Amino acid sequence: MFKIGDIQIDKKVILAPMAGITSFGYRKFMSRFGVGYVVTEMISDMGLIYGNEETKSYLKFENSGLPTCAQLFGSNPETLAMAAKIALEINPNIAFFDINMACPVKKVTSTGAGSSLMNNPQLCGEIVKSVKAATGLSVTVKIRLGFDKDHLTFKEVIKEVSAAGCSLVTIHPRTAKEMYSGLPHWDLVKDLRKEMGIPLLVSGNINTVDDALNALKITGADGVMVARGGVGNPTLIKNINHYFNNEEFESTDLSTQISYCKELVKNLIDEKGELVAMRVSRGIVTKFFDGFKNSKKLKNRLSTELVTYSDLENILKDYIQENYV
Ligand SMILES: Cc1cc2nc3c(=O)[nH]c(=O)nc-3n(C[C@H](O)[C@H](O)[C@H](O)COP(=O)(O)O)c2cc1C
Repeated sequence: MFKIGDIQIDKKVILAPMAGITSFGYRKFMSRFGVGYVVTEMISDMGLIYGNEETKSYLKFENSGLPTCAQLFGSNPETLAMAAKIALEINPNIAFFDINMACPVKKVTSTGAGSSLMNNPQLCGEIVKSVKAATGLSVTVKIRLGFDKDHLTFKEVIKEVSAAGCSLVTIHPRTAKEMYSGLPHWDLVKDLRKEMGIPLLVSGNINTVDDALNALKITGADGVMVARGGVGNPTLIKNINHYFNNEEFESTDLSTQISYCKELVKNLIDEKGELVAMRVSRGIVTKFFDGFKNSKKLKNRLSTELVTYSDLENILKDYIQENYV
């Protein structure tokens, strides 16, 4: 389908990195629905350099057999290169690196990292060159349109990173100022792929198969990243693949959603232990029940009462009994 350096990617759908969500248990669950490669959530270069244990744990990969990418954030070509080398020592199975140039969160941008980099296209190129030279691996970048509507620098950034040997760009066509709300500006990235010599992925409000097809058609991109739209809805990834394979779409019912939800939570327990996994699950599992009859009380209980795995089972049992479903 497309290549990242020498690495062949066979699917058009990628699970987008989401800090606090796409840990390896979550990725393991989602991967089997058909993603082209696997990417970690963003990992701090300085965290790796200081040997922070939690930061290092983000580099654990599930054994999916898929190419695996570590996403780093930082603002300095040297520290990012050092961190990439450390990451490879911790996990020699990293296939390539992605640099986060998109994160709009103040804690990140105030250090010059994430979407702040969009204000300095030349530095973006230097970072790519430096990480590539230090690791000998392919480097990709994830960008936004720019920092705000008066500084739409994405074309300059793409030019600089491409000249520096970048292997793929993912664009989330919102500005950093827009954070995660409003509609992505697909009009501003119309036919973008035609202007580029390297593969392009797009990210932003991919909530349905039509959203994916629309984004691919407008931009000419090689693939899409599914982010919030896939939380609680892994079938979205399957169905985007089904479209391209001329296969029938699948729909899900309550029992399928319950089994997916339980499978995900079990993966998170294996990864994090029950106490932490149940806390993390509270923010995720409600999404499996969007749109189901009388699910308000169910979702409320899931987001507040989950402490053990049996709480999950009991809350789901109560819902089924109360609603005769
Ligand atoms: C909670 C959360 C955490 C995110 N963390 C990351 C991250 O670590 N790295 C990154 O490149 N993008 C991150 N993103 C951005 C997503 O990958 C994606 O580009 C963005 O959410 C737009 O897609 P959507 O509108 O379909 O959700 C995050 C988004 C959310 C909502």
